Amino acid sequence: MFARAGSRMTTTASDLAGARGALRGTVEVLTRIPEVRNVVAAARARGKRIAFVPTMGALHEGHLRLIDTARKAADFVVVSIFVNPLQFGPNEDLAKYPRDIDGDTAKVRSRGADVVFIPEVAEIYPPGGRRVRIVPVGLDERWEGAARPGHFEGVLTVVAKLFNIVLPDVAVFGQKDAQQVAVVRAMVRDLDLPLQIVVAPTVREPDGLALSSRNVYLSPDDRRRALALSRALFSIQAAFGRGERDARALEQEGLAVLGRDSIAPDYLAVVDPETLATVSTAEPGCIVLVAGRVGPTRLIDNIALASP
Ligand code: PAJ
Repeated sequence: MFARAGSRMTTTASDLAGARGALRGTVEVLTRIPEVRNVVAAARARGKRIAFVPTMGALHEGHLRLIDTARKAADFVVVSIFVNPLQFGPNEDLAKYPRDIDGDTAKVRSRGADVVFIPEVAEIYPPGGRRVRIVPVGLDERWEGAARPGHFEGVLTVVAKLFNIVLPDVAVFGQKDAQQVAVVRAMVRDLDLPLQIVVAPTVREPDGLALSSRNVYLSPDDRRRALALSRALFSIQAAFGRGERDARALEQEGLAVLGRDSIAPDYLAVVDPETLATVSTAEPGCIVLVAGRVGPTRLIDNIALASP
């Protein structure tokens, strides 16, 4: 028999030995690091390729598509749900970050993940403090890194820890957080971490708004104004499609769209996809980053410029 994790365990299928995670509609809910290590080691011993999807919960279709991508890339999928205190600034929304463990577990199960790891804060950061952190060099000086000091240190530290707990062959991230993708890729490369990073496209509402756990904070009026972010990106793509290559002119195009909804962005910039440095001439593959406050809610979005 398998040791199961506390009262949070949720399954819909049988408990038969060997059935762990193998049946569609069954997910094993684990809260402790050694349990995750054991379950993953057992899957690996059965010849499974392991994929990992880290999240902070409040799951929406964007997260769930990452699970779909993970299932295509591997045959055993681990999802983590952990609202990582280390990546929130002192004045940010850690305390009120949306949480829905039961709903999230049902969603993860419905998408066919094998394990969901939901640790307590003390499991990841035991009392007594930390003496080591992973700090990106340079890549965090701009954009989200500048707006949220220490954020990417927090992200990389928890992602490195989660990678070391799960030991996946592949980890899946969303293009929605373009700077996060860049810093995670840089960590994997610079620290020779033995796994592959797969990036899945941004999932949007039918009207263009990028799905985000923070969209629940938007009032109906803010929800309408928030559309300006994606509209600005799409109008930049349209101008690029018409042949505009001057990055500053493209940015002006986006700023004009944001201005119509009185949104003064924290930043709107055409950047190199790897270094995230601004470019003067836009090329296919360059990323347009945007971030701004809509009412009290800070939202980010981006698109990769594509040839017409
Ligand atoms: P979270 O914001 O929960 O996002 C988890 C993953 O879902 C990230 O890879 C993010 O880019 C992806 N994602 C969010 N919205 C998406 C959308 N609309 N379309 C596609 N993918 C989307 O990012 C984090 O958590 C944390 O920083 C984490 C990596 C878990 C470390 O704590």
